[in-house]
Amino acid sequence: MKDVLIIIGTRPEAIKMAPVIRRMSESSILRPRVCSTGQHREMLAQAFAAFDIAPEFELRLMTRGQSLAALSGRLFNTMDALLEERRPWCVLVQGDTTSVMIAALCAFYRHIPVGHVEAGLRSGNLQQPFPEELNRRVATLATRFHFAPTPTAADNLRREGVPESRIHITGNTIVDALLYMREGIRDAPPPLPPAMEALLRKGLSYVLVTVHRRELGAEGLQHICNALRTLARRHPDLFFVYPVHLNPRIREHVRAELGNIANILLIPPLGYKEFLRAMDAALFIMSDSGGVQEEAPSLNKQVLVLREVTERPEAVEAGFCRLVGAQEERILQAAEELLAQERSGIPSRSTPFGDGHAAARITTVLERAAQASPEEYP
Ligand code: UD1
Ligand code: UDP
Repeated sequence: MKDVLIIIGTRPEAIKMAPVIRRMSESSILRPRVCSTGQHREMLAQAFAAFDIAPEFELRLMTRGQSLAALSGRLFNTMDALLEERRPWCVLVQGDTTSVMIAALCAFYRHIPVGHVEAGLRSGNLQQPFPEELNRRVATLATRFHFAPTPTAADNLRREGVPESRIHITGNTIVDALLYMREGIRDAPPPLPPAMEALLRKGLSYVLVTVHRRELGAEGLQHICNALRTLARRHPDLFFVYPVHLNPRIREHVRAELGNIANILLIPPLGYKEFLRAMDAALFIMSDSGGVQEEAPSLNKQVLVLREVTERPEAVEAGFCRLVGAQEERILQAAEELLAQERSGIPSRSTPFGDGHAAARITTVLERAAQASPEEYP
């Protein structure tokens, strides 16, 4: 058996790696060994709990309001020590966080092959999303096995000179995760916070909101809060349910701006099952999240994307996401249009992000490589 060290730092990495861990656990060739960097704490614990994952190695690196450089420094030291001690055959990372970039670099320095899940996403703008666009470009340079979720992502890698033999189009593991959870949710809906349950019981409509990106800054956040306040005032029968990200910069601002409005429900981050149920029941979604843009098509939901650019153009092209940015007037206009449209219904289409078998494809590629000599594998 060869060890694959699976690195997870934040909520979305846990959700998107969970299907890979499950699938790889059935392998007779590879042994998944899960390492939590603890870049996130409570939100990561919630995501692990949803999938019954207990990491074997916990680095517990989060500090409140951490700076990118300080987090990176702690990651370099602890990750390198772990690699030295455990000497895995391969390091597997997912996405574009600081944990991903530093783990990929640490593995590269030790000549350990890196597998990158969700490789090849590009916005084309190093400032948006910040610093994720840089993180993924660096991860690409250090990666041996590029698991591109879509043909568009694969094309981005080819354009950067990644050899064809190292690119594997797999679909996005978020579809695997969502399909795995969805059955259970329909059979036994997980309880939501009491205020949300009350809305659902009364048949009241709500828009689901999430916001967390660093590049928004105080000004962007203010625009989003202003737009939400205006929408809540104009539509007193419509609710806005907003699970607030634990980043203190976001949390404090949002609480101060939106804390006392009757039809805006500020709630703590939801567990994954609960969040899927909340998305499923929402009228539409307003979000700057990457993962939410990928989940919305599977749930046939519309998302107003509170960003200027997206590295997930597939969701825009398929008609599920609309780039609105973080400017108050544009958000208001787009939300009003969608409210009018929602009342006349929106046709259902299929997801561009995969068929739910991404984790199996990723595992198969790595199993084949593990059985070959380093010169033979792509
Ligand atoms: C990080 C990732 C971002 C990803 C997002 C997912 C980087 C640079 N950013 O952003 O790519 O989209 O996670 O949510 O890697 N905090 C808690 N408890 C938690 C999580 C966070 O208190 O469970 C607070 C801490 O004060 C922490 C702060 O949030 O310092 C910011 O966390 P960090 O991981 O640095 O950045 P995010 O904005 O969460
Ligand atoms: N999510 C969750 N609970 C919440 C909000 C989001 O479980 O309260 C899930 C969501 O379904 C998606 C992921 O978290 O799978 C997205 O994480 P986030 O928006 O923090 O990061 P990004 O995807 O932008 O990197």
